[in-house]
Amino acid sequence: MKTRSGGHDFEGLSYTSYTNQPFVIVDIFNLRSIHIGMEHETAWVQSSATLGELYYRIADKSNTHAFPAGICPTVGVGGHFSGGGYGGGGVSFGVVLSYKIKLVRVPPVVTVVNIKRVKNLSYIAHRWLQVADKLYDKLFLRMMFRVVNNGERTIQAEFPSLYLGNSTNLVTLFKKDFPELGLEKSEFIEMSWIESVLYDGSFPIGTPTTALLNRKPQYLIPLKIKSDYVKTLISQQNFELIFEKMKELENQQLHFNPYGGQMSEISEFSKPFPHRSGNTAKVQYVVIWEELGVEAEIRYLNFTRVMYDYMTPFVSKNPREAFLNYRDLDIGVNSHGKNACAEGMVYGHKYFRKSNYKRLTMVKSRVDPENFFRNEQSIPPCSSNDESLFVAHSVI
Ligand SMILES: Cc1cc2nc3c(=O)[nH]c(=O)nc-3n(C[C@H](O)[C@H](O)[C@H](O)COP(=O)(O)OP(=O)(O)OC[C@H]3O[C@@H](n4cnc5c(N)ncnc54)[C@H](O)[C@@H]3O)c2cc1C
Ligand SMILES: *[C@@H]1O[C@H](CO)[C@@H](O)[C@H](O)[C@H]1NC(C)=O
Ligand SMILES: *[C@@H]1O[C@H](CO)[C@@H](O)[C@H](O)[C@H]1NC(C)=O
Ligand SMILES: *[C@@H]1O[C@H](CO)[C@@H](O)[C@H](O)[C@H]1NC(C)=O
Repeated sequence: MKTRSGGHDFEGLSYTSYTNQPFVIVDIFNLRSIHIGMEHETAWVQSSATLGELYYRIADKSNTHAFPAGICPTVGVGGHFSGGGYGGGGVSFGVVLSYKIKLVRVPPVVTVVNIKRVKNLSYIAHRWLQVADKLYDKLFLRMMFRVVNNGERTIQAEFPSLYLGNSTNLVTLFKKDFPELGLEKSEFIEMSWIESVLYDGSFPIGTPTTALLNRKPQYLIPLKIKSDYVKTLISQQNFELIFEKMKELENQQLHFNPYGGQMSEISEFSKPFPHRSGNTAKVQYVVIWEELGVEAEIRYLNFTRVMYDYMTPFVSKNPREAFLNYRDLDIGVNSHGKNACAEGMVYGHKYFRKSNYKRLTMVKSRVDPENFFRNEQSIPPCSSNDESLFVAHSVI
């Protein structure tokens, strides 16, 4: 059985199967109501509402409340919340019909800026890793690199940023703590939080906020996503090598999201999601292509796997951690046979780290011992026979 909310799983696990077994889809697309309870600053959201619908409904009630989640407005609440900052990995424990969420306060004016740079990038990237997770709690400063081809392949960088406040102090802040970016006040744009959602989603400035209610993505293209976590500084020289490799691989993009801030204030053991303090940034590998057909697919998939291998020395190890919502079947698949518990460790330790994975399998053995709710990367139940696996592993 497959469960589908927004259908944005990067490997399509909500509507395809890699095991060649027949399946049914429980598609809950009609369950998408949203009730905002402003008096308690909470909301009930049914799982098939999209993030765009949620953002729109909150802003409809208040311009000083928000909910921090993904950038793409067509992503579904069902898969996103269960795999993002809170959940136990969708599908493993049942079908979630709705979530109660706590809204956060935002100022009436926020500041956005999308800095584009083409020079001195290895130096700036190295500096970004030193400052991005500690710069300022109210600042979300991403860093993205892609290859552009103007006869010669070069790297272009973008630094999309959201600051929860007006631009007055922002210039001073950047000048003091990150002068390498060379930011000018004229580059900042002030707007409401809901407008910043559209801006971040690459809608042209002035697009009406009702665009967030559109459940169809702006465009459809083949893509492959992978993820990593950065815990130690990457030198300027190594960034130069990384950029050379990207140019060799044409379409490879690398997107860095800073951690720190609120992410670090929650213990890694208090919720299934374990990527907390100690992480400077999450890396997203993005490869998109236009050609249809298997040949192109093989070529681009190979490219991103080559890039991922190349990045090994610069990212987390033992386990090499990964972000569940950037679903990637390359990091392990479960056949849910006799060795389900051991097979689950391969991807489970990357998505949840060892201790949380173990606890999740214990929950699973109690609530779904028959493993009815499962997919290629769900949490398997572990029996007392499997106990030795965990012991052996902790000794290693
Ligand atoms: C174009 C695009 C942009 C994206 N942008 C971002 C982003 O900005 N930030 C980010 O963090 N992520 C982003 N993602 C990843 C996204 O967060 C995950 O793919 C998320 O799991 C999608 O949720 P969904 O409900 O749309 O997907 P679905 O495919 O419906 O579900 C994803 C997984 O969760 C399970 N599931 C779904 N609904 C339920 C339910 N109600 N109960 C139990 N299990 C359920 C499914 O079976 C499947 O395994 C993006 C993905 C795409 C394709
Ligand atoms: C900008 O924000 C600061 C701090 O919140 C505030 O004191 C100031 O009045 C604001 N400036 C403008 C022009 O709104
Ligand atoms: C790169 O930036 C650093 C720090 O601002 C500066 O010292 C260096 O000269 C710059 N290099 C180039 C090639 O612009
Ligand atoms: C994958 O890509 C690399 C880098 O371009 C290339 O050297 C290698 O031959 C490719 N492998 C396959 C199996 O296509």
